[in-house]
Amino acid sequence: MQIDETTLKVFSGSLERCQTNPKFLSLFYQKFVISNSEIREKFSNTDMENQKMMLHASIYMIMLATQSNDAASTYLDIVAKRHSKSVLDIRPELYDIWLETLLETVSIIDPMYKDEIETAWTKVMTYGIDYMKSKYDVDIEN
Ligand code: HEM
Repeated sequence: MQIDETTLKVFSGSLERCQTNPKFLSLFYQKFVISNSEIREKFSNTDMENQKMMLHASIYMIMLATQSNDAASTYLDIVAKRHSKSVLDIRPELYDIWLETLLETVSIIDPMYKDEIETAWTKVMTYGIDYMKSKYDVDIEN
């Protein structure tokens, strides 16, 4: 799927503003882990500093994957399989909480936040989320 140029520009501008604020991903994970006990449990043994770096990278990768970038699509595939039922077992419903928490965090961190920005984040992240959900049941041996 290709995301139109305007959406991509709006998204990447907002992402830049968010990533320059060191509180961005800390705030996201603070909110995400308290949103639900299943999520809290999943991260109980996680090094959250490392996790923030992985998420930082994967947000860019999803943006590139929407542009049919091969390396980014391969990366997304690996991350998706790692979240599948037989590995991390991240149920599809949890991605909806993930997106809701991310949008709430962006609305706090991006000083230029408005509907257009929310729509751009939703479009770009939904591309990654739909792909990850589609791999939930795959047998990772294949
Ligand atoms: C599009 C959404 C998401 C993206 C881009 C994403 C990205 C990532 C990445 C890049 C990693 C590191 C993978 C590795 O170590 O190889 C990771 C690990 C993980 N993710 Fe996600 N994730 C997403 C959604 C979720 C959701 C909804 C949950 C629900 C709880 C979740 C839970 C985890 C857990 C538990 C780990 C492993 C942490 C550890 O190593 O202890 N992720 N994620």
